[in-house]
Amino acid sequence: MHNAAFEALGLNWRYLAFEVHPKNLRAAIAGAQAMQFAGINLTVPHKLPAINMMDRLDASAAKWGAVNTIRFEGKRGGAWLPLHEFDPDERPVRIRSHGFNTDADAIVRALMEDLDVPPAGAKVLLLGAGGAGRTAALKLASEGATLFLVNRTAEKALALAREIRRRFPRTRVSAGYPREKVDITINATSLGLKGGDPLPVDLGQFPIKQTRAVYDMIYRPQETRLLRAARQAGCKTANGLGMLLYQGAKAFEIWTGRPAPVEVMQKSLHSALSGGKDK
Ligand code: ATR
Repeated sequence: MHNAAFEALGLNWRYLAFEVHPKNLRAAIAGAQAMQFAGINLTVPHKLPAINMMDRLDASAAKWGAVNTIRFEGKRGGAWLPLHEFDPDERPVRIRSHGFNTDADAIVRALMEDLDVPPAGAKVLLLGAGGAGRTAALKLASEGATLFLVNRTAEKALALAREIRRRFPRTRVSAGYPREKVDITINATSLGLKGGDPLPVDLGQFPIKQTRAVYDMIYRPQETRLLRAARQAGCKTANGLGMLLYQGAKAFEIWTGRPAPVEVMQKSLHSALSGGKDK
């Protein structure tokens, strides 16, 4: 989606994927910095450790405790500028890494645009308390949602509920399945990635009709067993493509300083996924 966006805007930029061992993350970031990359995206398992490797943290990264987007900046005069603002023959000696998080905003945008569920006042059953689940829970709590947290390892859901109560004292949050109807159920576990996976929700404790809409952060397969069951029960459904798209669009804007061509990026994502390509 990024390469399609660069092409649409006539930018001679490239987005490439690199496999990096967690032990080499610091060296990989330093290498990209020295080679004057415009920026980097980080994914699992690098988002949390990268917090301690940045020269500067944007409020978005500091607030959610995770970095998924880095912009490299050079010093000219007294100001730090994105590297693309330097002429090709101008090589800044001092370069710094600036860490951002675009995941949290992407969750809210996807829920609004794909399912028409604004988080303020919404009742949310959130499945999963790993990295993705934690960011979603904190962001939704900060926006005024009521949260029910369920996780295979129950202690993690309890700990997350405690953290939310401490940081957002006005939020209503509990661990365990709700008895009442909810506006949306979000799957932030990895269950559904593989065809034979069980459902991430215990239908004995929470019949699917108890939710109006279901969001699955998984986008491959495009329709997980959970989404199929929800659709068949008459719920509104959406997969994780919107989250992927919106975190990417925001990262694009952070790097280039230009509005992201969201439709171009969306089309490119759709064709990559329906064509069965890997990236
Ligand atoms: P991510 O960054 O994608 O969230 P993660 O931090 O490894 O990845 O979190 C994976 C989530 O999927 C966790 O909520 C995990 O539950 P645990 O905290 O109990 O590990 C959940 N998960 C993974 N495999 C699961 C399984 N077989 N059954 C139920 N939940 C599972």
